[in-house]
Amino acid sequence: MYNIAVIPGDGTGPEVIAEGLKVLKAVSEKFNFKYHLEHFDLGGERYLKTGEILPESTVEKLKEMDAIYLGAIGHPEVKPGVLEQGILLKIRFQLDQYINLRPVKLYPGVETPLKNKKPEDIDFVVVRENTEGAYLGAGGFHKRGTPDEIAIQEAIHTRKGVERCIRYAFEYCRKRNRRHKVTLCGKTNVLTYAFDLWERTFREVAKEFDDIETDYAHVDAVCMWMVKNPEWFDVIVTDNMFGDIITDLGAMIQGGLGIAAGGNINPKGVSMFEPMGGSAPKYTGEGVVSPLAAISACQMMLENLGKAKAAQDIEGAIMKVVKQDVKSLSAGKMGHSTSEVGDLVVKYIEK
Ligand code: IPM
Ligand code: MN
Repeated sequence: MYNIAVIPGDGTGPEVIAEGLKVLKAVSEKFNFKYHLEHFDLGGERYLKTGEILPESTVEKLKEMDAIYLGAIGHPEVKPGVLEQGILLKIRFQLDQYINLRPVKLYPGVETPLKNKKPEDIDFVVVRENTEGAYLGAGGFHKRGTPDEIAIQEAIHTRKGVERCIRYAFEYCRKRNRRHKVTLCGKTNVLTYAFDLWERTFREVAKEFDDIETDYAHVDAVCMWMVKNPEWFDVIVTDNMFGDIITDLGAMIQGGLGIAAGGNINPKGVSMFEPMGGSAPKYTGEGVVSPLAAISACQMMLENLGKAKAAQDIEGAIMKVVKQDVKSLSAGKMGHSTSEVGDLVVKYIEK
């Protein structure tokens, strides 16, 4: 029995999560496992109505769950940062979800903007540190709004935080068993303290994994290679800020936000899975956005819960849908509605 927290959130979040839950029901029946859903009303609407963002009592409840399934957080009428820091980052930090795992995989039939690149060329994973760096919010203003204003925003990297992230990347690479290569993405030529720590730690941890090849690239070069030679990558490990940036690039080369999903992982605690696309306010309620990213997040969640077969079935069904049924993954261009795409995934699972 799995206790799953569901946070549909804002905008199109609830629409895509509904499809993921359909798929969850289908695989649970097929593979005979039980789960209990607990819905949490968090997001912009609730904040605007009640002023509440994420009560401590809710955090405590989330800590008791087996997994969290999140739709999207973000509201056009709420100042940027309030909901992101107050909900998403707060959950990541308080539940110590120190890995942001982002598979970048091009499925056959999905269009990539990279000319001449095929599914076998685009299949790697980004392991992003998820609880430190610039995201900690260390810093402040001095003389704000005056000509003498100073803004300081520091990035914090701890040996422990860096090491556990790098070790996870190596272990994941071994388990993934593909090209057996971990690339550290940094900026040792400019961020000479932070990435000195990262590089030294990387070299030390690598010694425990003599079956894994290592590589290093500056983040700007990683952006070039992700476009020009994505086939070079297997596992990329990087800090929070760089990871945020390169994973959006990754989402685009795998076919866009309609398919990209990620996990916020605490290997020994409660992890949270989400589609990469935001709340997409302009499409809300239209039934035109792809639910496949949310369904893929559900797949990741099941894999994390130890339901490997169910996860594989979901991936197989997603692959069928993108190959045979949907014309495009862009909103309004699928040739099917959000719920029809969910139904197709369910149909392929039941077969
Ligand atoms: C992501 C998102 C978040 C981040 C935002 C919404 C705070 O872009 O999950 O990548 O920057 O981590
Ligand atoms: Mn991001």
